[in-house]
Formats: sequence, C-alpha cells, structure tokens
Amino acid sequence: MDLWIKELNPAQREAVCHTEGPLLILAGAGSGKTRVLTYRIAKLLQSGVCPYHILAVTFTNKAAQEMKERVSGLIGPEAERIWVATFHATCARILRVDGGFLGLDRNFVIYDTQDQLIVVREVLRELNLSENNFNPRAVLATISKAKNELIGPQEYEQQAADFWS
Ligand SMILES: Nc1ncnc2c1ncn2[C@@H]1O[C@H](COP(=O)(O)OP(=O)(O)O)[C@@H](O)[C@H]1O
Ligand SMILES: [Mg+2]
Repeated sequence: MDLWIKELNPAQREAVCHTEGPLLILAGAGSGKTRVLTYRIAKLLQSGVCPYHILAVTFTNKAAQEMKERVSGLIGPEAERIWVATFHATCARILRVDGGFLGLDRNFVIYDTQDQLIVVREVLRELNLSENNFNPRAVLATISKAKNELIGPQEYEQQAADFWS
C-alpha cells in the first residue's frame, strides 16, 4: 500500500479506501475527519479519477480554504482543478457555466438582503402601496416562501386569493 496510507488509523483507512456507493462518517471534532476527506481525494486522483469530477462541499468558506490547502499539500497543484467550495459557491458556479439552459444570463447578480429590500421598497413605491400596510420584510418573506415551494410568479398570481397576495 502507498506510503501515505500509513498516516491513517484503521478506521480512516477503511473510509479512504471505500470507493463504491455512499459512505457516512460521524466523528467528533479533531478526530481526523478532514484528514479522511483529503486523503480520500488524493486516493481518487491517484486511481485515475479526473480532478474536475471530484466535488467537495463544505459549510463555510474557511473550511473550503482549509480543505484546498490540505489537498494541495498532499497532491500538489493538481488540487486546483478539484471542485472545493461551499454549497452556495458551488451552485453559483454551476449556474454561471450552465445557467443559460435555464434562461439565466451568465453575468447574473446575486442580491443580498439589503439589495432585496431596496428593490421591494422601489416596487411598493411604484405600485403606490404603503410600507405601513406592506412591510418590505414581510413581502420578501412571502416571496421566499413561494420560492421554497417552487411557486413561480405566474403560478403565484393564479393562486392569489386575497389582496395581500
Ligand atoms: N491518523 C492520524 N495520525 C496522526 N495525526 C492525525 C491522524 N488523523 C488526523 N491527524 C491530525 O489530527 C488533527 C485533526 O485532524 P482533522 O482531520 O483536522 O480532524 P477533524 O476534521 O475531524 O476535526 C490534524 O492536525 C491532523 O493532521
Ligand atoms: Mg475538519
């Protein structure tokens, strides 16, 4: 077995060498999970998997950065071609590349909470609706809820049964 495999304990080795089907690892902080993931990536590359066929999703940007650095340290510059990013960054990247199939401009802009409030306030002004009756944050929450339920503008309009909607 490869030299670096020696740097893993038996449970880690088992996880790194698992190749077919999904694998769930539950372990405490500092117990060696990230080491498993980085060595697993190295092992996949070594066995001939294309770097850009590997996707590592992390919860925070900081964790993504750490993961990138640790994989680079292990396998060198080839690590640059692996997808390592947060869930949001990964989805944004996919949409920048292939969003055209959904009718998205590849230069789309992502509005943060502040941008969203500005737009809703503008819309309310245009519609002559008072912010006292239509709280912009409540409007945003309603839009967000519809999006979570995959209800688009046209469908929402058809379902709208009261004045607020
Ligand atoms: N089998 C091992 N032998 C020696 N050191 C290890 C081993 N596994 C992990 N470590 C080290 O222990 C520390 C914590 O490991 P890490 O993979 O970051 O844990 P986690 O992601 O679970 O918090 C790191 O410094 C890592 O290099
Ligand atoms: Mg970790």
